[in-house]
Amino acid sequence: MTRSTITICTTCKREELSLKPTAEAETPAHGEQLLEKVRAAAEGHETVAVRGVACLMGCSHGCNAAITADGKMSYVLGSFTPDEVSAGALVEYAVKHAENENGVVPYRQWPQGVKGHFVARIPPLERVETN
Ligand code: FES
Repeated sequence: MTRSTITICTTCKREELSLKPTAEAETPAHGEQLLEKVRAAAEGHETVAVRGVACLMGCSHGCNAAITADGKMSYVLGSFTPDEVSAGALVEYAVKHAENENGVVPYRQWPQGVKGHFVARIPPLERVETN
């Protein structure tokens, strides 16, 4: 079984959600909040890795995530609220992505929380011969 990686944009901000001031000097961006929740939800799932990157270039529809694995279809998803429900759905989907030979998870297996969030899918890299 291969491992799938969830990449969360750490710099996403959702305009309609306030970043409530806390005792800390800075309130983490919504993307950072989602990353923290996805990391927690992924604990114990050995086939799922989690990482954060600054900006997946989908800034107008944050929070954004990508699910990738070597040799498999990759997916970009967006418009997530940075909460446990979103995190759980992303991890559940990534587990199925890891289990699936080509990364194409049948629709009937999609967790409810990812439906309506897909932005793009990207086929695995292949060697392209030119002339
Ligand atoms: S800030 Fe998240 S995609 Fe650009």
